[in-house]
Amino acid sequence: MTVDHAHPPSNDARTALRGDILYFLRDPGWSEDATGAVRFEPDGWLLIDQGRVVAVRAADEPPDSSWARQDWRGHLVMPGFIDPHVHAPQLDVIASYGAALLDWLERYTFPAEARYADAGQSRLGAERFLNALLAHGTTSALVFATVHKISSEALFEAGRQLGMRLIIGKVLMDSNCPADLRDDIAQAEQDCIELIERWHGVDRLAYAVTPRFAATSSDAQLAMAGGLLQRYAGRAGGLYMQTHVAENRDEVRWIAELFPDSRSYLDVYDRHGLLTRRSVLAHGIWLDDADRARMAQTGSSIAFSPSSNLFLGSGLFDWAKAEAAGVGVAPASDVGGGTSLCQLRTLADGYKVLALQGQRMTAWQGLYAATRGAARALDLEHEIGHFAPGTAADVVVWRWAEGAVQQRRQEMARSLHERLFAWMMLADERNVAAAYIGGRLRYRP
Ligand code: GUN
Ligand code: ZN
Repeated sequence: MTVDHAHPPSNDARTALRGDILYFLRDPGWSEDATGAVRFEPDGWLLIDQGRVVAVRAADEPPDSSWARQDWRGHLVMPGFIDPHVHAPQLDVIASYGAALLDWLERYTFPAEARYADAGQSRLGAERFLNALLAHGTTSALVFATVHKISSEALFEAGRQLGMRLIIGKVLMDSNCPADLRDDIAQAEQDCIELIERWHGVDRLAYAVTPRFAATSSDAQLAMAGGLLQRYAGRAGGLYMQTHVAENRDEVRWIAELFPDSRSYLDVYDRHGLLTRRSVLAHGIWLDDADRARMAQTGSSIAFSPSSNLFLGSGLFDWAKAEAAGVGVAPASDVGGGTSLCQLRTLADGYKVLALQGQRMTAWQGLYAATRGAARALDLEHEIGHFAPGTAADVVVWRWAEGAVQQRRQEMARSLHERLFAWMMLADERNVAAAYIGGRLRYRP
């Protein structure tokens, strides 16, 4: 970035970012023609006042001299990515060898999460995680903490300091898990209530009721979770709900044994009132048509986690079927099952997962889904994921190319879609030049 010294940047002043600005006006669908759905202003201006977007302007409409300027010419300026499913403590076990889901949980994940009983570990882990999110181009997320109240508390505290839009939940588990990670239902309920009262709707923070997955919750605990959603339905738009569903075939068989009265894995959650328009369920690879219809009916969304699904050998998510059923889908890192926090890598893996099934994700669809589409899945389209006036100025500035290979590919591209598609497939966190939260510069490499 070069600073215009006549107009030094101030975090509080009215600021104009200059660069190649891209965002979505609506869902582009799956067509290669995104006319009317995408706005691209090469060498344009993003005007920010009091942390909010005021306008996007074309190159030939510069703001007057009352605006501080930050010059990102030749860079791609986009809304920060939104990660609708990620586990903060699992950064400690990202890229762990040789296991499928249930074994991976036992061998790596539960021992790592147990360490977050310690307040110091939780605090350091929360700061490390949120800084890493920004460094990977993600400015908002729906986050699993651990079962420990302190781990959620630490994430809320750190997120508040950064001014981030975050939705966080204490994991609920009272069955089929190690003793040191097991909830007492009444205590867990009390912890949730205290976290909700303290954080839900405060600044840009919200609470997600977080049963880990059906296998680790008793019916009584799931009923408690549903009760919380009901109790707080009128508070700040209602609570969120996050969990996992139909990820792995062995897991699906196990859930059928544990809950013989439920029609399906999804139905275990449905019976307890856990499916709402603020519910995000990760994976959904092995859902059936009735499940998809029920998700569409309740407005709950799927967090498509291709990196995790490949890494743990879970299976191939069929986005076309979800789309046809009217289910919202947003791409997610699912770190530490996924191997990168960078949503560009998620999208590159997603493209390949879909290609194996004869489906083709355009750059439009991928980038929409990781920004405005994800905001929509999180019921936050009024605030994040695009640059309409009044939205929060959560912005990431990217280098179009890092290194000779990306550079050459960009030079050879003949259309905007070709350019963006190559960027989506080849770029990663090394391309991040800056991240702004609410108009404030919060990360530079
Ligand atoms: N199912 C239950 N817990 C987890 C988890 O931590 N990660 C993934 N990918 N699936 C899960
Ligand atoms: Zn997960």
